Amino acid sequence: MEQQEESWTEATSSSELEVKGPGWYPPGMADLLTIGEVARRSGVAASALRFYDDRGLIRSERSGSGHRRYPRAVLRRVAFIVFAQRIGLSLQEIGRELARLPPARAPTGREWSRLSATWTSRIDQRIAELERLRVGLTGCIGCGCLSLDRCQLSNPGDRAARQGPGPRYWIGDRPSGNPVRS
Ligand code: FES
Repeated sequence: MEQQEESWTEATSSSELEVKGPGWYPPGMADLLTIGEVARRSGVAASALRFYDDRGLIRSERSGSGHRRYPRAVLRRVAFIVFAQRIGLSLQEIGRELARLPPARAPTGREWSRLSATWTSRIDQRIAELERLRVGLTGCIGCGCLSLDRCQLSNPGDRAARQGPGPRYWIGDRPSGNPVRS
């Protein structure tokens, strides 16, 4: 698929492109990138880009032959998605954040900054989770008891799932059900 999209670039002119749906970006055909180009520049696999596209996190325009073409501004969106995933945002949350950007033009630097301004507490929360994980793992490596009452690794029958979604023991719950104080 990617190879097909690459060869299409050489074999056709931009006049064969057609734009579908509401434009998120300026429709400068010369600025459109193939999925392979976006993958190379962003470091994100083409399969992941298609996934983001299918989930509506990024939006492509379609060539006459149906290949995806992306405005250059998509690179910033992709970087945003990768960063947001690293700090623990779900794809749904990322979609909600991206929906706050203007739909008909490339966002300004200020608009991007506004988006990430609310993330400080999320990053602090993530750091605290990782710190608990580090302490827990360091203890378990030298221990090996897999105690049902206190071990953060031991979870037979997925008892932790009863306390809620996510890695419960690593985000602060005790195997006994009492939250850990940080
Ligand atoms: S292995 Fe003993 S507390 Fe985890």
